[in-house]
Amino acid sequence: MKDDCKTVRVQAPATVANMVCGFDVLGFCLDQPYDIMTLTLLDGTSDILIQHLGAYDLPTDPALNVAGAALIALQEELDGAMGFEVVIDKRIKPGSGVGSSAASAAGAVVAANHLLGGRFSREDLVRFAMCGEKVASGVKHADNIAPCIYGGVTLIRSIHPLDVVALPAPALYATVVHPQIEVRTSDARQILTQKVLLRDAIRQWGNIAGLVAGILKGDNALIGRSMEDVLIEPVRKILIPGFDQVKTRSLSAGALGGGISGSGPSIFMLSASEETATAVAEEMAVVYRGIGIDFHTYVGPIASAGVKIV
Ligand code: HSE
Repeated sequence: MKDDCKTVRVQAPATVANMVCGFDVLGFCLDQPYDIMTLTLLDGTSDILIQHLGAYDLPTDPALNVAGAALIALQEELDGAMGFEVVIDKRIKPGSGVGSSAASAAGAVVAANHLLGGRFSREDLVRFAMCGEKVASGVKHADNIAPCIYGGVTLIRSIHPLDVVALPAPALYATVVHPQIEVRTSDARQILTQKVLLRDAIRQWGNIAGLVAGILKGDNALIGRSMEDVLIEPVRKILIPGFDQVKTRSLSAGALGGGISGSGPSIFMLSASEETATAVAEEMAVVYRGIGIDFHTYVGPIASAGVKIV
């Protein structure tokens, strides 16, 4: 039988990266869906043993698995040999655009840190978890990882050196629709242009500053009009059937604004009330029923807590 002090179970939530204008620098935490992960500390060995429950065919070689790669990065900063047995009940579908890989990476390092007595800071954990994210998308980015660990809304001012700014979670409701198609983050990054026009950059950083100011001031109208993306959305939306219809119908139903969740195909909207967020979910459903694509919708608050011990 396992010693209870050496085993921990965590709930690692989905997240919405970019928040439309803040490509790679802004993200927020959802309260569902979430993965459940159980970690057990293995003394006197550096082995990382990974087991998946559920339907997804994910790698179990630690170097190729997002949770494994994050734990390897953490192990590199430990003095002695400590291994982990990791059981992942993956409920956030990979390739959905709501931070499935980040949840595994963040959940693993938060759980490991708990088993190790909390010796690492949250920023350290973001740093380790980014090594997992790199396995999934080919580059380190923290706009899913940071909100998954910190909760609320996070701004990643820089990743070299890492500088995470935790923002208060606005009292807004998110609606997310996940059409059942897969978009790989690595593919969705490859189609982006590497150079932007100065006039577009000016519009984009005005929007990012406006969004952060809106969150700090509690100004919903400013939040709504700042969620505009002139750089990424025009390129990526072609990967998402029904995107323009979802956006138009959601705004007509009263959403403040929204757009592609992370690299898609999920789309999110923010609303001032749960009632409006629910009405927005119905509009999203109308679009995907019309197109004939299966979908899931989620409605819930921006979650102020990230990975939780459960
Ligand atoms: N910022 C990343 C991207 C998030 O948009 O590629 C991926 O989930």
